Amino acid sequence: MNLTVNGQARTITVEPRTTLLDALRENLGLTGTKKACDRGECGACTVHIDGRRVLSCMTLVAMQEGKNITTIEGLEQNGIFHPLQSAFIEHDGFQCGFCTSGQIMSGVAMIEEVRAGWPSAATTDLAASFSLANLSREEIRERMSGNLCRCACYPNIVDAVADAVARS
Ligand code: FES
Ligand code: FES
Repeated sequence: MNLTVNGQARTITVEPRTTLLDALRENLGLTGTKKACDRGECGACTVHIDGRRVLSCMTLVAMQEGKNITTIEGLEQNGIFHPLQSAFIEHDGFQCGFCTSGQIMSGVAMIEEVRAGWPSAATTDLAASFSLANLSREEIRERMSGNLCRCACYPNIVDAVADAVARS
């Protein structure tokens, strides 16, 4: 298969049943994307496909030819962290770190969803257009609810996302 991962063309040979998560970790050595539940429950394996957040454990790599895949390794640009990566460090948004790459990939895509005006289950006025200015802590919690943290760093994760939004 020919893939585009973090802006680089990569070629791998895989069985048809291979998930994107296993291809990233086992075939491409990109172990920043974590395997935790391996069944779509925790969000630790979140990556971006064409800019949208996706659970890579629930996605076959065979479906990804021609798509742009971004992992946590591809988030920094020219040695500079993405603002959400910096905010996670500054706000101590992790303990063991196992969920962290998924949290950050999810948060980055979530901010773009808000920029595009997408409402969430926590949005009270669906008729009004949604923007980053409406992104309350309740909204952040709801929009990040697919990413579990066994260390329960949730308050600091919300702080980090809110700070990254404020700086954007
Ligand atoms: Fe994919 Fe948990 S490892 S959702
Ligand atoms: Fe340990 Fe989230 S920091 S699971």
